[in-house]
Amino acid sequence: MTTQPNNLDQWFDHYADRASGLAASEVRALFAVASRPEVVSLAGGMPYVSALPQDLITDSINRVMRDRGPAALQYGSGQGLPALREQILEVMALEGIQASVDDVVVTTGSQHALELVTKLFINPGDVVLAEGPSYVTALVVFRSFQAEIAHVEMDEFGLVPDSLRAHIAAVRAAGKTIKLLYTVPTFSNPAGVTLSWQRRIDVLEIARENGILVLEDNPYGLLYFDGPPPHAMRSVEEEGVIYLGTFSKTLAPGFRVGWVLAPHAVREKLILANEAAVLSPSSFTQSVISEYMSVADWKGQIGTFRDVYRERRDAMLTALDDYLPDLDWTVPNGGFYVWVTLPNNLDSKSMLPRAVKELVAYTPGTAFYADGNGRSNMRLSFCYPTPEFIREGVRRLSTVVNGERELLNTFSQTAPLTIAPPARSMINPPANLS
Ligand SMILES: Cc1ncc(COP(=O)(O)O)c(C=O)c1O
Repeated sequence: MTTQPNNLDQWFDHYADRASGLAASEVRALFAVASRPEVVSLAGGMPYVSALPQDLITDSINRVMRDRGPAALQYGSGQGLPALREQILEVMALEGIQASVDDVVVTTGSQHALELVTKLFINPGDVVLAEGPSYVTALVVFRSFQAEIAHVEMDEFGLVPDSLRAHIAAVRAAGKTIKLLYTVPTFSNPAGVTLSWQRRIDVLEIARENGILVLEDNPYGLLYFDGPPPHAMRSVEEEGVIYLGTFSKTLAPGFRVGWVLAPHAVREKLILANEAAVLSPSSFTQSVISEYMSVADWKGQIGTFRDVYRERRDAMLTALDDYLPDLDWTVPNGGFYVWVTLPNNLDSKSMLPRAVKELVAYTPGTAFYADGNGRSNMRLSFCYPTPEFIREGVRRLSTVVNGERELLNTFSQTAPLTIAPPARSMINPPANLS
């Protein structure tokens, strides 16, 4: 790491090398502006928690305090509350996973699980294979442990097995060690696509053949719109998969409760790492979730979320069709995100300040790549704004995109812009979209 003490931080040259992976994103300052109420933000991934039964949650909190207050306010087990771990098995069973309660470790959100797994497996210079594009804050974690990230191509059916094989061969030929394959196979963040069943089998087979551990991150699998997705990868492979789940999207992120389901031996290490990091996950929020799940119709509530997000997804797709018909985008069957491919030469990152000025925000595609790709992509989230705001947001976006196009056409020496075919490692639009 370069050491240049400066006036703002007298400890600048004291940081560990791994801290260099923790650079603030260039768009962070803009996002502070984008959180103003007059801006339609299609940028964040905040669940619409107002759709929760607030009274039932309040009742659960009150009952926890009344019936087991001292225990709920105490330190707990480093593995998590046994009653909640039993209930987590019920959640995972909905995605085809059969597991032992002993192999579940509760964490402070699945983000924390990502950190623990990375801490356990990654030495500086080890390679993590990840979808291109990948969940941005997983990339931040991998980088903070000085991993190298190699992006594997995706299309509308998720990770491309041939690309996975090619990357494994190339990384090995370069003499590097691959430790993990990180994937969000269902309603991925940011691409909104789902790995088909056949590809799940193929990817697991490739990972098994090559001795690569699969890190399956599945926050969105139960939030489907048009029919259930394929079962989790962990449902067919126990020893080769570490599975991450969370209550953040099906209940609320404010509880900060997620979990890891790991092979037996890995689980032991995870508990120790969890204890080293937080002693125990929050007894209080685990107790509240456990209480809520034992009295509320939590499956029905997930159904309510599906209805809310389906309506918003539809609003976004209709608005894109109406206002930006010549762009390409993915059509998610669940989750929170649509991945848009811009016409050739338009740069989502440099366009963002103009978008924020027009009172709409999105996340530039570059955030989701470790290698600078993604300039012609943007992630649009439909989870938080109402359908009306989503439509207005896309309308504002269309004025920005069209204005930018005109500008480029005016100053370009070349022919007027046309829609470019998706470049390497971009998501191909589904065939049913023009
Ligand atoms: C793919 C993915 N993994 C992990 C997380 C972290 O979620 P949690 O709130 O459980 O830490 C998110 C949050 O948006 C996510 O999209």
